Amino acid sequence: MSGGSRDWLASAGAPLRGRIRVPGDKSISHRAVMLGALAEGSAEIRGFLEGEDTRATAAIFEQLGVRIEAPADTDRIVHGIGLHGLRGSGQVLDCGNAGTGMRLLAGVLAGQAFDSVLVGDASLSKRPMRRITEPLALMGARIDTGAQGVPPLHIRGGQSLQGIDYDLPVASAQVKSALLLAGLYANGSTTIREPHPTRDYTERMLAAFGWPIEFAPGLARIEGGHRLRATRVDVPADFSSAAFFLVAASVVPGSELRIDAVGMNPRRTGLLQALRLMGADIREENPREQGGEPVADLVVRHAPLRGIEVPQALVPDMIDEFPALFIAAACADGRTVVRGAAELRVKESDRIATMAEGLRGLGVEVEETPDGAVIEGRAGREVLFDGGEVDSHGDHRIAMSFAIAAQLARGEVRIRDTANVATSFPGFETLAARAGMTLKAA
Ligand code: S3P
Repeated sequence: MSGGSRDWLASAGAPLRGRIRVPGDKSISHRAVMLGALAEGSAEIRGFLEGEDTRATAAIFEQLGVRIEAPADTDRIVHGIGLHGLRGSGQVLDCGNAGTGMRLLAGVLAGQAFDSVLVGDASLSKRPMRRITEPLALMGARIDTGAQGVPPLHIRGGQSLQGIDYDLPVASAQVKSALLLAGLYANGSTTIREPHPTRDYTERMLAAFGWPIEFAPGLARIEGGHRLRATRVDVPADFSSAAFFLVAASVVPGSELRIDAVGMNPRRTGLLQALRLMGADIREENPREQGGEPVADLVVRHAPLRGIEVPQALVPDMIDEFPALFIAAACADGRTVVRGAAELRVKESDRIATMAEGLRGLGVEVEETPDGAVIEGRAGREVLFDGGEVDSHGDHRIAMSFAIAAQLARGEVRIRDTANVATSFPGFETLAARAGMTLKAA
């Protein structure tokens, strides 16, 4: 979707200073479009992430007959057509790079009267889908995958779905959400238990759209046969996008940066706790609620970091933040150990391998383990990183993480294949440069 690869050249910049706002939350934006489409009435979404992933989801619902207006870049009005209003388009539905889009849509489409085919880009086409197709099959869905359980997904319509009682083998909000969305179309109730609580946006948003749902950390239960009623959704700024700036301002001496109105759902803010254990200086100001979600302004100042054993209980709450955490670890004093994070191997890239390869290229000692890594921090050296070349493997979060490392490098760092940054963080380069970082398209 992103129009091929594109490189960045990044090098030592100024301290990060001033006040910034990062784009809207990706997880919430996907769900707002989906529930808005299936609701009765028109849902107004404010603060929508204008990224490629969420635009792909919106485009798919348009293909399925939903009218979506964009009165401004970050606003959408989704004219819902009700739970049974979608119409098959006869064409493949392209989720781009978005695992969230594909997995949640599979849940929705399993309950339709028509057949669908979901495809994705090269990275998404390698990601595991059996984690959703197997439990959906238990509900009565018929979905064929490619060999080894990867996309495309061929979803047969016209199946009668039954609720299930399911213990998730991995802590995954995407799997939980796919099953809950299929559960809207199922007879009886669907109960999902998680080995560790994951982000609960689907549950919260179903409740906001008027669907009766019972949920608590680690558990969600709904029954089919109700209706969704359109409502307004205020999307907070994405903590995962703020994360790059939290790490950058922590590690670049002289930095003091304010990030406005960041979503602070506790299922997303594990990195904040990990950084604080490392000695980071991050203040939360003006804590408040926005559209039912906690938000706060974050003020981050440079501070010396020390290596830690990342508590395994934090892993699901910071699952998207490990690329940034690896950079913080490489800048710290002493060793950082990550365990219990095997899920990183099946994200937009194998994030353990990609980060280890990139860090080694910049002179950092990293040991890969099956479910994590051991990173030797380089604090105390005159220059933290060598210049050179890093391949992001088309993974947006890897590219942005190495842009941070480059701020402390001797010489230039070429970061390869960065076009996919637009999937989650359009305008990252401009915002990073405004904050003080040196980064340009090559
Ligand atoms: C997401 C859940 C997480 C996360 C992804 C977004 C979501 O994936 O990594 O970026 O919106 O539900 P898993 O649920 O597979 O861990």
